[in-house]
Amino acid sequence: MIPIKALLHLSTLGMVRAKVVKVDPLAPDEDVIEEAAEVLRSGGLVAFPTETVYGLGADAFNARAVRRVFEVKRRPPDNPLIVHVSSLNMLSRVASEVPPHVLRILQIAWPGPLTVILRRYPELPPIVSGGLDTVAVRSPAHPVALKLIEVFGGPIAAPSANLSGRPSPTRAEHVVEDLGDAIEMVLDAGETFLGVESTVVDLLSPKPRILRPGPLGPEELVKIFGVDVEVPEHVRGILSDVDRPPSPGMKYRHYAPNKKLILVELGSCGAGDYIDFLVRTLKAHLSNGPALLASKETIYHVKGFLGDAVTYITLGSRSNIYEVAKNLFNSLRELDKNDRVSVGICESFEEKGIGLAVMNRLRKAATERLVCG
Ligand code: TXA
Ligand code: MG
Repeated sequence: MIPIKALLHLSTLGMVRAKVVKVDPLAPDEDVIEEAAEVLRSGGLVAFPTETVYGLGADAFNARAVRRVFEVKRRPPDNPLIVHVSSLNMLSRVASEVPPHVLRILQIAWPGPLTVILRRYPELPPIVSGGLDTVAVRSPAHPVALKLIEVFGGPIAAPSANLSGRPSPTRAEHVVEDLGDAIEMVLDAGETFLGVESTVVDLLSPKPRILRPGPLGPEELVKIFGVDVEVPEHVRGILSDVDRPPSPGMKYRHYAPNKKLILVELGSCGAGDYIDFLVRTLKAHLSNGPALLASKETIYHVKGFLGDAVTYITLGSRSNIYEVAKNLFNSLRELDKNDRVSVGICESFEEKGIGLAVMNRLRKAATERLVCG
């Protein structure tokens, strides 16, 4: 039984236990969406699925509700949120000066995993943008998210629904692990479709510039934009050479499990040498209970050398980088939950398409990087 003193303590802290409600990802129940919209209208926080990761939603025009988003996530106040809209019409309530070429791009790319930086509409509370005069906006391609924004009837400010610094949530359970005691409601629509957060692009610079890589890689963006796209070096996730990050989120360590994570990069090695290098790295950590986070193909080869001395966490198939992206954050959380393991050793992937986002997240999550060759 919980002592009454502890209960009183909980209530004075204003702690709540989130109501978790299952919804069909493709045909969400109208009553459930209406209930969630009502929570938002009364200034509450609702976690909801998007096609990328779960978001922690608040009424974008309610500065108090938005402040709570920062508080419950323990997010630094200068790291701005993304505003979610359900239509180009709604965009005009959060962004001013949307040039015709931007409208054309959004007509193609939305709804979808593309966040654009535009000028903030003056009436949108500055706290949403961490005090900047710009705003990050996107329209999510998930029926539950779109329906929620539509029924709520306005823009929803929503960062990823994890504690700041932790891997982003791709399942409702992840949201409950991190924030279950601090928010009002979680819409549980199962696993998200893509697994890594949206591509963030600055459309205010002369040439569109990627601020955060995501499901739409530079190759796809060039096709959608019809012009060349700038891919700054920091987009690869190597932080040391970033002095003044163009996106405030970049200066913080991210996506990180609590345990030590060593990323083993392919470097100039061929496939055979790379497996040898992984095996040697794992052997050097055998006394710590190592886990190998890798594709099923790589696990098959390493298992031939090390058998059950290692815990194996499968990211998917090397031939399907979308599967790897989808499993990535859950695998990092699994590493933390496994008591037999104290260090993770992770394989690297080709930086093409969504693979650029996978490597960006892995480099930011890793405590150490080793390069083969
Ligand atoms: O897929 C996604 O984008 C998910 C789902 C929930 O939509 N959201 C998400 O939000 O990942 P968050 O808050 O975890 O990441 C937002 C990123 C941060 O890196 C932040 O610094 C950047 O967008 N950002 C937001 N507003 C910005 C602005 N005005 N200028 C530059 N970067 C901005
Ligand atoms: Mg985030």
